[in-house]
Amino acid sequence: MMKTFPLAAALLAAGAVAMAQAATFDGAAQVFRLDGGNTSYVFGVNERGELQQMYWGGRLGAEDRFTAPKPMIGWASFDPSYSTTPQEYAGWGAGLYVEPALKVTFADGNRDLVLHYESHTMTANGVDVVLKDIERPIDVTLHYAMDPASGILARSATIENRGKEPVTVEQAAAAAWALPVGHYTLNYLTGRWAGEWTLTQETLHPGARVIESRRGTTGHQANPWFAIQAGGPSEDASEVWFGALAWSGSWRITVEQDQLDAVRVTGGFNPFDFGYVLHPGEKLDTPVFYGGYSAHGMGGASRLLHHFEIAHILPHRIGTGEDAAPKPRPVIYNSWEATEFNVSEAGQMALAERAAALGVDRFVMDDGWFGQRKDDHAGLGDWYVNPQKFPHGLKPLIDRVHALGMDFGLWVEPEMVNPNSDLYRKHPDWVLNFAGRPRSEERNQLVLNLARPDVKEYVLGFLDKLLTENDIAFLKWDYNRNWSEPGWDQLPAAEQKKVYVAFTENLYSILEELHRRHPKVELESCSGGGGRVDLGILRYADEVWPSDNTDPFDRLSQQYGFTYAYTPQIMMAWVTDSPHWLNKRSTSLTYRLLSSMEGSLGIGADITKWNDEEMATAKRLISAYHQVQRTIVQGDQYRLISPLNGSEFSATQTVNREKSQSVVFLYIHSTQEGRIFPLLKLKGLDPKAEYALTPIEGKAQPDTPTEASGAWWMNHGLQMGGDFRGDFQAAAFRLDKK
Ligand code: DGJ
Repeated sequence: MMKTFPLAAALLAAGAVAMAQAATFDGAAQVFRLDGGNTSYVFGVNERGELQQMYWGGRLGAEDRFTAPKPMIGWASFDPSYSTTPQEYAGWGAGLYVEPALKVTFADGNRDLVLHYESHTMTANGVDVVLKDIERPIDVTLHYAMDPASGILARSATIENRGKEPVTVEQAAAAAWALPVGHYTLNYLTGRWAGEWTLTQETLHPGARVIESRRGTTGHQANPWFAIQAGGPSEDASEVWFGALAWSGSWRITVEQDQLDAVRVTGGFNPFDFGYVLHPGEKLDTPVFYGGYSAHGMGGASRLLHHFEIAHILPHRIGTGEDAAPKPRPVIYNSWEATEFNVSEAGQMALAERAAALGVDRFVMDDGWFGQRKDDHAGLGDWYVNPQKFPHGLKPLIDRVHALGMDFGLWVEPEMVNPNSDLYRKHPDWVLNFAGRPRSEERNQLVLNLARPDVKEYVLGFLDKLLTENDIAFLKWDYNRNWSEPGWDQLPAAEQKKVYVAFTENLYSILEELHRRHPKVELESCSGGGGRVDLGILRYADEVWPSDNTDPFDRLSQQYGFTYAYTPQIMMAWVTDSPHWLNKRSTSLTYRLLSSMEGSLGIGADITKWNDEEMATAKRLISAYHQVQRTIVQGDQYRLISPLNGSEFSATQTVNREKSQSVVFLYIHSTQEGRIFPLLKLKGLDPKAEYALTPIEGKAQPDTPTEASGAWWMNHGLQMGGDFRGDFQAAAFRLDKK
């Protein structure tokens, strides 16, 4: 079953209810407490009636009690207690100088909003708390749901206008998180097209650091994830508070250190150009902001997130319980780098023959198959099969792919239109635009206004038809530009900014409906690479395309950054041709394969040109990968040596949940001064168990026994022999419990 809101239902559906109740309320002290995994989260109602955060950290004793929360002191006459007190969801009013959770304008011009506790309802995994303005009829319901296994807390808000006049919401967070006073390092992910997933680390200083997208979509430039570590960067040891926002539209996360050194993180809809009019009786649901805590450094934080994503975010397709859980991804072949737009029935069949010979599970035809698509100047919007390229439709190709033992996937870019298309000629008003103003094209395309009901129906309609008429197992859903001129001139001027919410909600609702009608069809979220990766889209997407940059060396750093926030299960990684088109770097096929095997393996090269030896190498490694894939993509991942900052070496390791198997990848960038690969202390094994070490690939041998205890591998470590040197070298080993 695909999981939908509300969150409590999502966690319920995933079987989380068997546990003791996650939330409790101490009526005498007016304190709420949520426990899960190794984490407790506590907040209460203070003497003024505000909802005040009290604790977020390691799990407390079951009998431990809190007394009623006391508001923080104000600082002289300049920082009132309303501003210094860490509120769970502060309205902008009454002298608030830190980031508000909610800012509104009432019809009479009043902009003062002070939210006080009103009531609450316990839910299966948490609690819903209703806040009300001290005078106006506006309600905010805060939803809390704690995952009993990981302690990751899902928070969101519903804002309701219960008055008789419209209210404009100008800023609405999903949640505000407060950390204990301390010295912290902030981690976040930044990038650009072909350069996504750069881990950025900086010391937190007084003031605000804003991480955001104003682009209408998630964006390559920053990802809606943060992790704040106590002290300096540490992979294993420090306390880490982290969060990820489930929203694929414009978003903002503000990390603030205030005058008294208190640290808060507030995130939700991006308030830039925002304005959502709530008519009497209407509600606005914010996205969900997930937050978690680990005492085991950045590694511990990402392992919690990875397992949480697999258990509670990613689509659970067919069946129930474990049967429906996300499976390791099929090894795919994708045609893009081989043929670009130049697809044809014969050409794709030739690639499919070769892919099947390699042991590939899924054949995906990329861009170029529809409308009058010869290059990126035409065709988007016209989703009929191009009759010159496929005179008999897609069926002969799909049948051939099936006969070769693979399933079939297809590329689409549903939210876009080329001005040179029948669709645009018929409906020029369907694109985002301001009437009478220029329409900026990027990649010769415009963005359809998916917020419009007729556009939504069109997109749902053509996709449904495509999936009904063809035996398609998988869609690669692309999105190759960001918004510009985001007008919606069918609505009254005051309502047009609703586009920021309605577009993304309609996208989700199309995906939901497609899933209902075609429950087996799987999906990849791609936006010119990693421009739309977030926990919102991942409720519908089984995998993502992290970057158009498929250079195997660059990918090591990108994959390293990616795994801070997202599981390798969804991290598609193709092996492509050498020298690489972007960096002109030449690498061996083995190196390319081992780089891609850190994630969910795919092949994206022109395999019609591969020689027998290359075919044999790839076939052997795809088969070896299939044997250990579940450990790699769903196990506990340890980032052993970072490839960042010009590192000579890098290494990652994964251990399956049973600790019966582990896989280690080692990479050399360029050996300098004859240095040998550092002694690699493995992690996460059972110290008492015996493990046998077997090379998956790589000529280099270890300079250690090949059978030893978990204690040996973790304390003594794996030492590579001196022949493991050179440029762009790679080796991989599996350890199996005896
Ligand atoms: C951008 C994607 O990231 C590529 O993989 C490819 O699908 C192209 N679009 C096709 O236009």
